[in-house]
Amino acid sequence: ESRVQAIASSLSSKLDTIPSEFIRSEKEQPALTTFTGPIPEIPTIDLSDPDEDNLIRNIADASKEWGFFQVINHDIPMDVIQKLQKVGREFFELPIEEKETYARPVGAETLEGYGTKLQKEIEGKKAWVDYLFHNVWPPSRINYQFWPKNPPSYREANEEYTKCLMGVVDKMLKWLSLGLGVEGNAIKEAVGGEDLEYLLKINYYPPCPRPDLALGVAPHTDMSAVTLLVPNEVQGLQVFKDDHWFDAKYIPNALIVHIGDQIEILSNGKYKSVLHRTTVNKEKSRMSWPVFVSPPSDKVIGPLPQLVNEENPAKFKAKKYKDYEYCKLNKLPR
Ligand code: SIN
Ligand code: FE2
Repeated sequence: ESRVQAIASSLSSKLDTIPSEFIRSEKEQPALTTFTGPIPEIPTIDLSDPDEDNLIRNIADASKEWGFFQVINHDIPMDVIQKLQKVGREFFELPIEEKETYARPVGAETLEGYGTKLQKEIEGKKAWVDYLFHNVWPPSRINYQFWPKNPPSYREANEEYTKCLMGVVDKMLKWLSLGLGVEGNAIKEAVGGEDLEYLLKINYYPPCPRPDLALGVAPHTDMSAVTLLVPNEVQGLQVFKDDHWFDAKYIPNALIVHIGDQIEILSNGKYKSVLHRTTVNKEKSRMSWPVFVSPPSDKVIGPLPQLVNEENPAKFKAKKYKDYEYCKLNKLPR
């Protein structure tokens, strides 16, 4: 298995070519499919808003319309985020041989480890990205073998960020619940309460000679309950709405929130799981740090009973999270 980082550095800087397996069909090429008109305002929400009803309304509206928003004044100290980014960047700057010691074991059931391709893609196209996955919470789910030992402060930086992020997630799940008109603890309880699992992914997108033809990550929705993401300063995330792909602008110090499939299901379709993809950059490495917040594997997820009645029948079948995950990863009907 060859890493995109190795492919990228082997390409001649004089020739603007990339291997054909990275060249998207015209239906997917970012140069042909990115919306270029006036971009509608993708919601940015100030979490320090003293008017909580207003805050809840903004979060609910963004989750219904986009399934995607950025949050500012989220209370995670800037230096905690910068340390997370620094140690992640330092890991990806290590020689590939050293990174390979964290490689995802071939045929392993776990997603954890350093790797290159996860989704089987239609048309057999490859994504211009390498990644590292490891669980960060709860402690019983952590396998430190997949946490880089180099740089030495990697563990501390990730633990610190996770602790801060959990506070934001708790508040977000409360506001999302209240926005549906159900009790504040309804969503958190439904996704597993204190057994909720946090999985960190670091995406590393090397510079790409043909960013017009390739994608970093193909279009998908996240199967998590919710995903909170820190990007670096290289813009590349795009969201799909009303038949168009829109650039999500980079906002320094913001956290990006994706509503995932499980909250779409729990809300009986009121909140949307956002379709998104990423583009890559000709000169710069793009990086991002999504944390997927998901139910434990045996938790059954279906529409909240409070939201289902005669006029509003259930739009989704209840399913164990692990069965949902299995169907999605293997592209089976859900
Ligand atoms: C992803 O959705 O997996 C990646 C998002 C990003 O890199 O911004
Ligand atoms: Fe995603």
